[in-house]
Parts: sequence; C-alpha cells; structure tokens
Amino acid sequence: MAVTIKSAREIELMREAGKILALTHEELGKALKPGMSTWDVDHLGEKIIRGYGCIPSFKNYNGYPASICVSVNDEVVHGIPSKKRILKEGDIVSLDAGVIYKGYHSDAARTHAVGRVSDEAQQLMDVTKQCFFEGIRFARAGNHLNDVSKAIQAYAEKFGYGVVRDLVGHGIGTHLHEAPEVPNFGQKRKGILLKPGMTLAVEPMINAGTYEVVWMDDDWTVVTADGSLSAHYENTILITEGEPEILSMC
Ligand code: MF3
Ligand code: CO
Repeated sequence: MAVTIKSAREIELMREAGKILALTHEELGKALKPGMSTWDVDHLGEKIIRGYGCIPSFKNYNGYPASICVSVNDEVVHGIPSKKRILKEGDIVSLDAGVIYKGYHSDAARTHAVGRVSDEAQQLMDVTKQCFFEGIRFARAGNHLNDVSKAIQAYAEKFGYGVVRDLVGHGIGTHLHEAPEVPNFGQKRKGILLKPGMTLAVEPMINAGTYEVVWMDDDWTVVTADGSLSAHYENTILITEGEPEILSMC
C-alpha cells in the first residue's frame, strides 16, 4: 500500500483523535497505583476513551481482547490485561492505546513508574522517551525515513540498550497500521522521502538488555528474551516542512 498524504480536513480529525488520546494517557497515568490490576487499568482506559465519544481501536483488533495494552517490567508490548496481574511498587508499566475519532486513528504509548522505581528503571524510561524526541528531530519533509530510525538507534545504544527489531512503528490514518513501516533501527535503504501531510506512529521499544524478544503462549505478550526490563514510548506525528507536529501530546 502506498503512503498516504492527509488533506487539511483529515489532519484536523487526526489532531482531535490525538488530543483525546493524549488526555486519556494523562488521566490513566495519574490513576496508576500499586494494588491495581492490569484489568482495572484497561477498564478505566476504555471508559475514558468511550467517554470522549471515541472507539478504542485495539479492542478486537486481530482478536486482541482489550482496549489498552498493559505491559509490565520485562513485557515489551501487547500485554493482555488480567485481574490476576496486580501492579506493585517498583514496577514499570507500558500503556499503549489507540482511539478512533470520526474514522481517524491516533496511537500512543507511555511507560510509567508504579510508586518508586530503581534508578536503572527510571533511566530506561527516560532514555526511551528521549529516543522518540531524538528520532523526530529528523522527521521532516526532505529527509528520509531511515534518518529517523538511525537517530533512535544511536541514542539508545549510547546507553548500552537493545533496540527491539521484531516490532516497528507505522503509518496511521483511516487505519491503525498503514504504510510505511517505521523501524527504530537503521536500515541499509534510506527509506521513503518524507512529505508534508504524512502521519506516522513513531514508537521506540527499548530493552535494558539485548534486543531479542520472544512471544508468550498467549500469542500476544512480547517479552525480552533475557528477562531485562523494557520500555515503550509512542506518539502519532504529522510531517510538515519544519518541525513535526506531535498530534498525541498535550
Ligand atoms: N500500538 C500497537 C502497535 O502499533 C497496536 C497494538 S494492536 C493490539 O503495534 F491489538 F495489540 F492492540
Ligand atoms: Co503503534
């Protein structure tokens, strides 16, 4: 599928979808407490999204059973919420969510600390978030996609972290996943030429150990192969002639 250029009207709708998702993440992040189950997090997240008149895009996506992916500690992404999984002080928890507003998607992820966490965990979360910002410095018209990917990888590897390769970011619009793929690591090819009106979900997934991941028996939950911690940070962005517009951030 070709990479689409969004019209002014479509961009307006994606801005609204992004704003609602940003607010959802803010509310969810504030609500996180030790003793909550990951099911509680999903339940609250779905309520917030529907409260804004939006549809949680992950629910039933390829059979995924919830609205929010809740991934704890060594879980990288796509953790399935469960009443049995209780958050405790010292955990780090990645929340990934998507909303549909009038047919347009936004997709964003944040990794939060539950209570006080180790310095190592805090650094991993900070670096993962910064990877996103290092990457999008290159996300502007005239650059190639690989400029973004390389910048993300270079920043993460300065800290000795592993950049997940088996999962990537993506274009987004009337579908959750559109062309192109947006890797967080450098490619041999320079990738597509970025143009104003492209909308991308840029989402570094960074492991404290090696980059290898494995899938659990539930066929969804992705965990680090070496058991190390992992963090995820994602926003939906709009390519412009200048700095990208971050649609899913307040
Ligand atoms: N944000 C996730 C991604 O881009 C979407 C997860 S889809 C779900 O891969 F089905 F797992 F929810
Ligand atoms: Co995504």
